[in-house]
Amino acid sequence: MQAPSLQRPALRAGLIGFGVVGSGTHGVLAANRQTIRARAGCAIDLTMVATRTASRAQAATDAGIEVTRCPMDLARHPELDVVIEAMGGTTDARDCVLEAIAHGKHVVTANKALLATHGEEIFAAATARGVTVGFEAAVAVSIPIVKALREGLVANEIEWIAGIVNGTSNYVLTQMGAGGSSYADALAEAQALGYAEADPLLDVGGGDAAHKLALLAAIAFGGPPRLDAVHVEGIRSLQAADFLHAARLGYAVKLLAVARRSEGQVQLRVHPALLPRNSLLARVDGRMNGIMVKGDAAGVTMYYGAGAGSRETASAVVADLVDLARALRGGGRMCVPPLGFHDDTFAPPRMRAMTDVRMRNYLRFTLQSPNAGPRVFEVLQRHGVLADKGTLTHDSLVMLANAVAESQMLAALRELETTEGVCAAPARLRIEELE
Ligand SMILES: NC(=O)c1ccc[n+]([C@@H]2O[C@H](COP(=O)([O-])OP(=O)(O)OC[C@H]3O[C@@H](n4cnc5c(N)ncnc54)[C@H](OP(=O)(O)O)[C@@H]3O)[C@@H](O)[C@H]2O)c1
Repeated sequence: MQAPSLQRPALRAGLIGFGVVGSGTHGVLAANRQTIRARAGCAIDLTMVATRTASRAQAATDAGIEVTRCPMDLARHPELDVVIEAMGGTTDARDCVLEAIAHGKHVVTANKALLATHGEEIFAAATARGVTVGFEAAVAVSIPIVKALREGLVANEIEWIAGIVNGTSNYVLTQMGAGGSSYADALAEAQALGYAEADPLLDVGGGDAAHKLALLAAIAFGGPPRLDAVHVEGIRSLQAADFLHAARLGYAVKLLAVARRSEGQVQLRVHPALLPRNSLLARVDGRMNGIMVKGDAAGVTMYYGAGAGSRETASAVVADLVDLARALRGGGRMCVPPLGFHDDTFAPPRMRAMTDVRMRNYLRFTLQSPNAGPRVFEVLQRHGVLADKGTLTHDSLVMLANAVAESQMLAALRELETTEGVCAAPARLRIEELE
């Protein structure tokens, strides 16, 4: 006699957006269908897609998927269990996600801008409705960092997270470090290779990394994403000369996203920084991403992977779908809003103002003559900034300074901008010390 089938009903998914991430998600679900079914405990069926472009609509139709031009059709569809938001933006996407939640649907999204901006509202709505919001793909694409923080490192108090989380800017900085290219040349090369958007502002201005950092910090330290608390500086004003000096001094220049807890406060900052050349993070080059996490029990762990890409992002989207399927079809429950969100036992962390953050600094001054050198030291010293004796040439002075509060450093630099014999605004890069 044949055993009765234990096959559970499929998880029915609708997909908003059939672009890079959406089509990749369809591709991975189709290519690995049997494996995904076995691991999820049920099939994951992509039954409906929203897109307005005829060629994309045709591709979906050819794959046997129902197509609509209107994302709200999916958000309100009575037969969908989960809506995958892969449309981007923060306006229509917010409306669609909230509508889907209101209709009792789970949501999986790759949209970091959406969650960094409207995460508090979206997570609150999901919690109230008893549905989940999966966002592994939104943070570091194929690197399973949300899982690592929420599961593998769950026993730890997280001390700090430091990441290279924007592949475009990392490519530009790697090129500037390798060949002495100017910022403009390195960016033009990235654009020619298709590694940078026509409008790369969000990448090179640090905004994209800030979105990801706000999400990482919410998972690690509790509370809602605090984009407003992230200090953001991009890479646009970096100069080739500083990469050469940094290399001579044993450092690489990276755009870092750092969340660090100290003295009961959390600092959130995105800015270019010098990293010791032999550190693991300094060796994350090109378009790759890398994230280091220090937990009080686990110590330092490191995660490395692609920072963009169709199948790479889809890998994380499908991972969230499989988690959801396991939880729903297995009768379990998935806890997706950040740990501690809406939990009175976790007070949201207090944020440290950037002006209070203490760091070492690399400084380069352009001088009218070497005679101006002593004046520079005198001004720095008066502000409590103690530097090594530096490298003085006929028209420049390069030095490494001790750790001081940001407010002290800024006061010294302001005075030095108008100090006699100092030509241009000094070049300054913070030095990241991860231990
Ligand atoms: N690309 C990556 O490597 C990557 C990595 C991680 C995360 N992400 C995130 O994933 C999201 C999607 O990125 P993507 O690169 O896949 O973008 P994309 O290639 O531009 O695709 C966006 C899709 O959304 C659809 N869409 C947008 N607004 C719509 C609307 N109002 N109604 C119906 N359809 C709409 C577009 O359809 P039409 O045909 O109608 O224009 C298109 O199919 C973004 O939040 C992005 O930040 C991307």
